[in-house]
Amino acid sequence: MDNPISKFENWWQEALADSPLQQKSAVCVSTIDEHGFPTGRFVDLKSESEDGFVFCTYLDSAKGKDIARNAKASMTIWWDHLGYQIRVVGTAQVITAGEADGFWQTRSRSAQLTTTAFEQSEALDSEDELAKRLQETAVKLAGQAVPRPDNWGGYCIKPVSIEFLTFRQNRLHLRELFECGSNGWVKQLLQP
Ligand SMILES: Cc1cc2nc3c(=O)[nH]c(=O)nc-3n(C[C@H](O)[C@H](O)[C@H](O)COP(=O)(O)O)c2cc1C
Repeated sequence: MDNPISKFENWWQEALADSPLQQKSAVCVSTIDEHGFPTGRFVDLKSESEDGFVFCTYLDSAKGKDIARNAKASMTIWWDHLGYQIRVVGTAQVITAGEADGFWQTRSRSAQLTTTAFEQSEALDSEDELAKRLQETAVKLAGQAVPRPDNWGGYCIKPVSIEFLTFRQNRLHLRELFECGSNGWVKQLLQP
């Protein structure tokens, strides 16, 4: 298959169909921090299309600030039950408010309340503060819908390259690199 987006979709569906994982769509997104260091963390992959790969988060989190300074980002996945590794390199863009609203509505009330209660990546004085903040938020919003906080949304990583690795026990891993050129995707095999 020579379209990496379709190939990704097939692999993701395959991974979801028979996943032993609790967090089935966890992917590692890496950004570049203010000192130039790469920094990665897992997020939940929400969707993928020709436009790119979407995850949701706080726009003023550490990763959000990284992306505001430098949009270059990567996404790395390992699906052990299939022996698949995927590496995406690209640029991250904030999704629209309408798209963020759509993802917000898919979240449970409990997830909406925790998202509202916390300031992701900010310092925390004590662990007790977590329950206290959540309780205060739940009381404040009792009996009403939880509005999407302005600082919560998502990013779409538009790929410039995608590499698929099929792990082989004999170490002859198949590496298929797709790079986006002016005439579309170009595929190149790489040595393992
Ligand atoms: C399996 C898993 C899934 C996660 N999903 C998300 C997510 O979708 N969005 C998010 O903001 N943080 C998610 N987190 C928390 C992040 O890993 C990270 O701690 C948080 O986003 C703060 O990162 P930052 O300080 O680098 O911005 C997840 C963590 C794990 C372990």
